[in-house]
Amino acid sequence: MSKNPIMRTSAGAPIPDNQNSITAGERGPVLMQDYQLIEKLAHQNRERIPERAVHAKGWGAHGTLTITGDISKYTKAKALQPGAVTPMIARFSTVAGEMGAADAERDVRGFALKFYTQGGNWDLVGNNTPVFFVRDPVKFPDFIHTQKRHPKTNMRSPTAMWDFWSLSPESLHQVTILMSDRGLPTDVRHINGYGSHTYSFWNDSGERYWVKFHFKTMQGHKHWTNDEAAVVVGKTRESTQEDLYNALERGEYPRWKVQVQIMPELDAEKTSYNPFDLTKVWPHAEYPVIDIGVMELNRNPENYFAEIENAAFSPSNIVPGIGFSPDKMLQARIFSYADAHRHRLGTHYEHIPVNQPKIPVHHYHRDGQMNTFGGIKTGNPDAYYEPNSFGGPVEEPSAKEPPLRIDGNADRYNHRIGNDDYGQPRALFNLFDQGQKDRLFSNIAAAMGGIPQAIEERQLAHFDKIHPDYGNGVRRALAKADGRERPAISVTENTPQRAAE
Ligand code: NDP
Ligand code: HEM
Repeated sequence: MSKNPIMRTSAGAPIPDNQNSITAGERGPVLMQDYQLIEKLAHQNRERIPERAVHAKGWGAHGTLTITGDISKYTKAKALQPGAVTPMIARFSTVAGEMGAADAERDVRGFALKFYTQGGNWDLVGNNTPVFFVRDPVKFPDFIHTQKRHPKTNMRSPTAMWDFWSLSPESLHQVTILMSDRGLPTDVRHINGYGSHTYSFWNDSGERYWVKFHFKTMQGHKHWTNDEAAVVVGKTRESTQEDLYNALERGEYPRWKVQVQIMPELDAEKTSYNPFDLTKVWPHAEYPVIDIGVMELNRNPENYFAEIENAAFSPSNIVPGIGFSPDKMLQARIFSYADAHRHRLGTHYEHIPVNQPKIPVHHYHRDGQMNTFGGIKTGNPDAYYEPNSFGGPVEEPSAKEPPLRIDGNADRYNHRIGNDDYGQPRALFNLFDQGQKDRLFSNIAAAMGGIPQAIEERQLAHFDKIHPDYGNGVRRALAKADGRERPAISVTENTPQRAAE
């Protein structure tokens, strides 16, 4: 007799035959009463959930965050105290491609982390870049539309991308990173991660500090050129999945040095740049990085769908000791992600095992589709409203953030005024050696191929403002690609970009 468990319908009835449908006569047709067949086909139709509107292609693993430094004077977050070891899950992704996209594409890599802390889940949903393309969230859906398919051609559109970027010079910093070597990493073990936004820390005395998070790869950086990546994609579309999964199976656990930059609350009024502007970094010389620990990935998921596709990361998930900042982009993301999860996974997405906090959770939300926790999570059926006299869950005043000083008139402020979009891309450009610069120029030329001349010229004028060598280098690479010479702009001692060096 077989020791295997019996196969049943999802309602529990045993299935007598999973090879032959019930038919009227040997040659069919099938009967409606073959409920097992109907159930099987209906389940198959529902196997896919909506893919993420952005960052659809992803790879993930479980691991730990271990804190070795002491930043207790800045934050009361339990997971950031010396010696704390916190289980976590990471999901990496590309931004623009659909779920079946090839891995080895030039694109920003998502770097989403969920830490299962004793104070609740803390999510840091960052990228492998410290900055972003836009600084106002009202521009985000338009920006993403330029990265996705054209509504008529159903193809990606370089014209749309460069039209938008050339009309949005705040994108220059991120575009430069995207077109540099780091824009096409070989895999995710060899990338840095950044929280990107400014967040806040607050301590037991109610003092606030602004903070940036950095995760520095301890495997070193590795990238492909466009030509190398084309060969890889020809061989396998799953190069990153293969690299991460196989490394973990071999027991090679990737690690990242975890670092923070800390800014005292009132410094934010003194910096020459807006420290809440997502298109800017805080220069290391002004705000040095502090090592606080190590993140290690050491366990593959048992089931990709359950643990990676179902993972719901949201910048709104913070814990006591960590807070938001006025960053407009961050504020919008606090809304956008939980809203996306309710649509993609359902109202009770936090109850899917991979998203469940690893501490008991009580609240007064009730009922709803797919409610699998008994309707209410208060611990007492009489305590279904708050306040009550029946021992229901109560507030925890120590979780209250210190008050945030805000002033100014409510208005739509022009974010172009008083914002230097060229200085920090110039600092990055100046870090590149000649080989890196040459690859930057040819990557940009490859991405710009075939766009209207007026858009090309508008974009080149921005590169010139970063540095004349930048604009001229792209002109040379464009000419090499399509045979049309572009006159170089002249560089003199008085060129402002030269004087700024
Ligand atoms: P620093 O010289 O102190 O820091 C330079 C940083 O640039 C390092 O973190 C380095 O990362 C990173 N970097 C090196 N090559 C590349 C590349 N090809 N693409 C992206 N990043 C790279 O200078 P500053 O702090 O004054 O910053 C200068 C510029 O460096 C900034 O304008 C920004 O573009 C870039 N940068 C700055 C960061 C910051 O938080 N200050 C963070 C990342 C980049 P690594 O340590 O991994 O080698
Ligand atoms: C995914 C919105 C900016 C990193 C997503 C998703 C949405 C979204 C709706 C899909 C979520 C899902 O279905 O699970 C936005 C909006 C932004 C913004 C509205 C700006 C206003 C950013 C920035 C970063 C970022 C600045 C990084 C610093 C990510 C990552 C994912 C993601 C890593 C994938 C998370 C995962 O692995 O599940 N974003 N985003 N996004 N976003 Fe953003």
